[in-house]
Amino acid sequence: MTMQDKKIVVAGGTSGIGLATARKFKLQGGIVTVTGRNAEKLRAAADLGLKTAALDSRDRKALDAFFAKHGAFDHLVVAVSGGKGMGEFAKLPLAELREGFEEKFWSQLETVQSALPYLQTGGSVTLITAISAVAKLPGVSGLAAVNGALELMVPIWARELRTIRFNAVSPGVIDTPWWDFVPTEDRQAAFAQYTAGLPVARAGRPEEVADAIVFLAGNGYITGKILGIDGGMA
Ligand SMILES: NC(=O)c1ccc[n+]([C@@H]2O[C@H](COP(=O)([O-])OP(=O)(O)OC[C@H]3O[C@@H](n4cnc5c(N)ncnc54)[C@H](OP(=O)(O)O)[C@@H]3O)[C@@H](O)[C@H]2O)c1
Repeated sequence: MTMQDKKIVVAGGTSGIGLATARKFKLQGGIVTVTGRNAEKLRAAADLGLKTAALDSRDRKALDAFFAKHGAFDHLVVAVSGGKGMGEFAKLPLAELREGFEEKFWSQLETVQSALPYLQTGGSVTLITAISAVAKLPGVSGLAAVNGALELMVPIWARELRTIRFNAVSPGVIDTPWWDFVPTEDRQAAFAQYTAGLPVARAGRPEEVADAIVFLAGNGYITGKILGIDGGMA
């Protein structure tokens, strides 16, 4: 399905997977708006020809005002990030995990709920969760909880709200600025270590996840699905 003249919003679309997704939609003729908080990243996205809006997905009032002004549209992708709450459970500061839920779980829910009145029949919502939800890896039970909670909701939304489709992509290790907390000189070694035992033993590229998101948005017969883009990690 072509995205010609389809209106698309990528929340958290100024970096990494969201930005790669916005670019793919635009290449297919979509009219794409990306949101994010950082002015420099927004400017760089605008330089690529994307429409931009400064917006914090944790701020429901701002979300409601943004979607009301933006008006009707076809596809929503929620790439808003998080990451707090990593570590072995026995020593995990639960305040950090609470913040992890605020960063990703609640901001994704606020974004979707705020957007729903404006999504056109035949449109779609695609969340970006994470393979931590099902990979059962030590040290990531907190992230598994955040992403697993989102993944449990998606198929139910698909049954509740039948005029639009709901899916999620669940990435493994993807080389994006999400990993900026690892010093640049150590990053490739870290990726090699995390992906050593995988059938596809390398980190993924944001474009590889973006391909799957554009496919899910465009295929009118897929709904309620969680698609792992993980090099075989799960
Ligand atoms: N990279 C990986 O290995 C990996 C693996 C599994 C899952 N994921 C998931 O994939 C999604 C995208 O991550 P990424 O790797 O592409 O990370 P990224 O490069 O850090 O991009 C995150 C994007 O989200 C925006 N953002 C974060 N918080 C926001 C908020 N409150 N309101 C609005 N925008 C916000 C950021 O812009 P601002 O900072 O300017 O707001 C940025 O555009 C995330 O949900 C992440 O958990 C990533």
